[in-house]
Amino acid sequence: MEKFRSATDFVEKHAPVRPVLAARPHAAAKAARWFLEHFPGDVAYAYKANASVFLIGALYGAGIRNFDVASIAELEDAVTIPNANLHFMHPVKSRFAIRRAYHDFGLNTFALDSEDELQKIIEETKSASGALAKDLNLFLRVAVPAINSRIPLEHKFGIAGDAAAKLLVKTRQVAAQVGITFHVGSQTTTPDAYAAALEEVHKLIVMSGVVIDRLDVGGGFPSVYPDSRPVDLGDFITVIEDGVKLLPMREGVRLMCEPGRALVAEAESLIVRVDARRGNELYINDGSYGVLFDAAHLNFVFPTQIVSRAIEEREEMIPFSLYGPTCDSIDHMAGPFMLPASVQEGDYIEIGNVGAYGRALAGRFNGYGAYDDVILLDQPLLSIYPEIEDVAHGSEMPLSS
Ligand SMILES: Cc1ncc(COP(=O)(O)O)c(C=O)c1O
Repeated sequence: MEKFRSATDFVEKHAPVRPVLAARPHAAAKAARWFLEHFPGDVAYAYKANASVFLIGALYGAGIRNFDVASIAELEDAVTIPNANLHFMHPVKSRFAIRRAYHDFGLNTFALDSEDELQKIIEETKSASGALAKDLNLFLRVAVPAINSRIPLEHKFGIAGDAAAKLLVKTRQVAAQVGITFHVGSQTTTPDAYAAALEEVHKLIVMSGVVIDRLDVGGGFPSVYPDSRPVDLGDFITVIEDGVKLLPMREGVRLMCEPGRALVAEAESLIVRVDARRGNELYINDGSYGVLFDAAHLNFVFPTQIVSRAIEEREEMIPFSLYGPTCDSIDHMAGPFMLPASVQEGDYIEIGNVGAYGRALAGRFNGYGAYDDVILLDQPLLSIYPEIEDVAHGSEMPLSS
């Protein structure tokens, strides 16, 4: 994989025909080191956010050994990571997925939010002779309010109230280790969501009388975007620590978190070419069916800069919207994306901080969706992490790219 000092260096040399996914693995490593240093428990990377081998390698190199997987395809990918602890945290899994995970890959940590799912897990993890599995780590996914999150997740999954208490008791009876998990919603910009979620956990523990072994506070930790500047990440950790201290739990309960976005958002940019300008609309060679899904459907605004020519510092920056390359008019990203007023056909633009869910969501509609890959050595366009020296540590993962 070729490495370049910046997107400008790369574009100067290659003038790429296809859109380019430009990884900054050092940014993923920095994020991982921050979480490993500050979170008081296991940090499990939510694999779905971005499965680029360069980013997984960087996370691993920084010390990440826990991974949250949500599908058999992710699991089959992630089992190739040496010494990884995998957690199957999707609350609804097919019977085939449970069997394959448990019997073929030795994965024994599962999430659930219904009696049906508990039953499926019990049945599909039995031995050939019909003996019940004795090594299950089962997490009950509780419903929690989404507060200040960009992508609320509370309606699809999670159980609450009496039903949750009863299910926790039943889960306790079959699990070697029982835990509670929740997800406050992705891109949660204030930590009160975690405080509220931990209050729900508190109520559930009291109501059920169950002694839990594990607590997983899920993902949802924010990244930074031009229109979404969260409070300090350290405040999230403080709120979680304070909330956990108040829980009626025994000593030594194992904590876990599952960040996706916060670990990889800064670690990838998209480099696109302007194929036409019509007023303040730019027609570019990637879009909503590609890496910019979140910009089109969830109105994410990403930082942008022209990388194919020098721009005078005093040039006016004005708002643009973007049209993607397909024939479809919903292939539109409203922005506003701030760019120099002189932007024109033939310019290349770096669209930064697309590392979370950008690559993962890209499809092949209309024949688009093929990217060149490159590694950049400079800093992300925006960063939530304090300036610290980027010294790689931890062991290197043996990668065969
Ligand atoms: C179970 C689970 N864990 C973790 C994540 C990662 O969330 P985020 O990227 O907001 O940190 C998700 C995202 O959907 C999820 O469903």
